[in-house]
Amino acid sequence: PLTATTTPDDHLSVGGCDVVDLVERFGTPLYILDDHTLRTACRQYRQGFERYYPGEALVIYASKAWNCLAVCAVVTDEGLGIDVVSAGELLTATGAGADPDRIYFHGNNKSFEELTLAVEVGCRVVVDNWHELKSLGELATQAGKTVPVLLRVTPGIECHTHEYIRTGHLDSKFGFDPDQIEAVFEFLASQPQLQCLGVHAHIGSQIFELNPHTDLGGVMAQWVVTAQRYGLTLTELDVGGGLGIRYTEGDDPPSIDTWVKTVCESVIAACAAHDIPLPKLLCEPGRSLIGSACVTAYRVGSQKVIPGMRTYVAIDGGMSDNPRPITYQSVYRALVANRMTAPLAETVTLAGKHCESGDILIKDAALPELKSGDVVTIAGTGAYNYSMASNYNRVPRPAAVLVADGDAALIIRRETVADLIRQDCLPETLRPKAK
Ligand code: LLP
Repeated sequence: PLTATTTPDDHLSVGGCDVVDLVERFGTPLYILDDHTLRTACRQYRQGFERYYPGEALVIYASKAWNCLAVCAVVTDEGLGIDVVSAGELLTATGAGADPDRIYFHGNNKSFEELTLAVEVGCRVVVDNWHELKSLGELATQAGKTVPVLLRVTPGIECHTHEYIRTGHLDSKFGFDPDQIEAVFEFLASQPQLQCLGVHAHIGSQIFELNPHTDLGGVMAQWVVTAQRYGLTLTELDVGGGLGIRYTEGDDPPSIDTWVKTVCESVIAACAAHDIPLPKLLCEPGRSLIGSACVTAYRVGSQKVIPGMRTYVAIDGGMSDNPRPITYQSVYRALVANRMTAPLAETVTLAGKHCESGDILIKDAALPELKSGDVVTIAGTGAYNYSMASNYNRVPRPAAVLVADGDAALIIRRETVADLIRQDCLPETLRPKAK
């Protein structure tokens, strides 16, 4: 879906911008975010709900995938709500003009300060556990406010994805255990300052199967029925995110349209079976909205040839700007952006620059012959790259640009070493003495 083409100079172009020009202007590594791809995915989700769901629906962007002012502003402009999981993400969303009514605050250990902020801002709080439920009840009373809440419940639905990004199974750190749900509803019935709007469940991430979401509607509708017994009318049902994207040729995820259809049919059928009205239906995709919308551009530096074994080609970034390969063994594809049609030459291993043997971005990439100074891009880096970037080895984090119709706008300034050192404090006794 990326609006990528090859220029007459044989360069990669994204969003109408020549990637070689972009890296000359903005440096490397560089995150290049394509406005059109991001907006198209937002529209596919919204149109899916218009097509398949007769009730009210809201798509919420899971901003943990990439939270910054510009991204929050684009998704807000596309009519989406925003899922946040910290004060930082919340204040960025409001700073970008997101409507608090459409902000959903998640997290399994929100601090007292974060809950206070949520009450002040007036966003919805997706309550994860008893500790939080009780603190929020007290906070709401003190503030004299009614706080809109949803309950996160573990649905007990398994899926096939990396174990670090599975959340629907019962042995998960997130959400109330379903056995607790009656006690939670009973408690909520006694807390009028907490307005329980609905329930939330999230199964996991980078999921290609549809079955978990076929089953989820039935599980969640049952919770709505249970709530009625405690005098609570739940009007919002949030089915989470999780739709996977295509990173390499072998990946074959369902389309956004098919995923939305599955979710809607499941909820519609379950509501009919339980004779309950259609709730406001929410989902919160992250990766499938922004993952495919970005490429990261790097410069090639050194190479190490081990005859008969392997050639390592090093680029000027790595696990600090894309921790996914080392964390989840994720597989990516690369292109040589300054020689797009050059014939494939050899299989090389694209290595990062960090002091860690596992800092490999792609093992066995079939690429044209590479030389120092070449511009290599890795696609599909929109989700969980910038947001999980680190300063490992004291490397400043990259800049990001938003490209559209041939224009590039800087959306994240490149960090500098001075930015990093600015946060350091050197106690008086340790200051270098004048010689
Ligand atoms: N809702 C909740 C409550 C979540 O925990 C998540 C992701 C999402 C929505 C969005 O899921 P998505 O549509 O993006 O799959 N860092 C990992 C992924 C962690 C996902 C965490 N939660 C990775 O790079 O694969």
